Amino acid sequence: MTILPTKGAPWAEVSARMDQMGQGDVKWRDGKAAVYVFNAGPEIEQVQKEAYAKFASENGLGPAAFPSLKQMEAEVVGFGLGLLHGAGGCVGNMTSGGTDSILMAVKAARDHARKVRGLTGTLNLVLPRSAHPAFDKACAVMEIEVRRTPLADLLADPVAMEAAIDGQTIMMVGSAPCFPYGLIDPIEALGALAERRGVWLHVDACVGGYIAPFVRMNGGDVPPFDFEVAGVWSMSADLHKYGYCAKGASTVFFRSEALRAHMIFEVGDWPAGKMVTPTLAGTRPGGAIAAAWAVMNVLGVDGYRAKHAEVTEARQTIGEGTQAQGWRLLGDPQLGILAFTREDVNPFAVLKHLYGRGWVTSAVTEPAGLHLMLSPVHKGVADTYLADLAWATQAARDDGARPAEARYGG
Ligand SMILES: Cc1ncc(COP(=O)(O)O)c(C=O)c1O
Repeated sequence: MTILPTKGAPWAEVSARMDQMGQGDVKWRDGKAAVYVFNAGPEIEQVQKEAYAKFASENGLGPAAFPSLKQMEAEVVGFGLGLLHGAGGCVGNMTSGGTDSILMAVKAARDHARKVRGLTGTLNLVLPRSAHPAFDKACAVMEIEVRRTPLADLLADPVAMEAAIDGQTIMMVGSAPCFPYGLIDPIEALGALAERRGVWLHVDACVGGYIAPFVRMNGGDVPPFDFEVAGVWSMSADLHKYGYCAKGASTVFFRSEALRAHMIFEVGDWPAGKMVTPTLAGTRPGGAIAAAWAVMNVLGVDGYRAKHAEVTEARQTIGEGTQAQGWRLLGDPQLGILAFTREDVNPFAVLKHLYGRGWVTSAVTEPAGLHLMLSPVHKGVADTYLADLAWATQAARDDGARPAEARYGG
């Protein structure tokens, strides 16, 4: 256990120690991380930091005290809704991240089921096997049964999902895209199903919400996945992923104010008066709100299109390069994530050798394969990655290395 020093140290010394501690971290600024960090380059990093610092002490919990943050949040939400066909009556809030957005959407769906549909007893949530574990966390917290359904061609299967739905189903989920394969579920088919069965459909666009619209503007083949699809009642979209904002920033959106009302938490019976919070957090870091607002204003539509064009180029170069080396792409990814597999070598052994060369990337298990979540910076290192991948594949063959474990987080 470390003990708080009795006497504090000068900031310069503490700062130097922090720099020293960071020496062992992945060299993400050099493009060595294809997970955890979204690297849009040093200018955007600088905007994040300066904007965050300007409002680092302010608290979004108090909009009357900080109308600045209230305005910034409203504008960020507006930017998001404008990108996701949400202009006609959709509403939303900023949250601290994808897990927070998902948890609050599930809470809203649960309270809607109880209050509007009159459901009691054990409720359930139907989601494809590829949907993010944040839904399991939300269900664990709220004691909702999780019903995972098998995939068809790595995508959500509406037939399997329909079979899992019953009168106690409060929500069904589609991802745009899912994390493991980077593929967009058939949201139109899920929307039609949701409407037919009268079930709330949430689209988890934590990864895709702030890249898919721009890839489409750039001419990419992106199917309908947002509020354009009638059955979609809520969405999660992370600013701190492909929105290139500072960490601690996501958005959760609802088809109407009436649906969002089920998210809001209000406690009136308390010695300090009424307390109302829209999201899970009490204190809401002003820095994260301010940094998101600043990055979005600095980039604008043109800036995002340019950054995402670089991601697309990196994905295409790496996708083609891996296939030329004998890997098989899993599905037909259109955004920033791609996963690839092969049978003649253990991909987890390859992963371990890549790690030895400084690459911090992920893996998939069904089937065993490698996983990349690309940023604009990867355009410049795609060829180096491919060369190291070829080397690591051969090294894994030669030494039969003990494989690494597929792991995301923790
Ligand atoms: C598809 C998807 N949904 C939700 C999340 C959760 O987001 P966060 O890590 O910001 O809580 C992630 C994180 O990678 C994700 O990929």
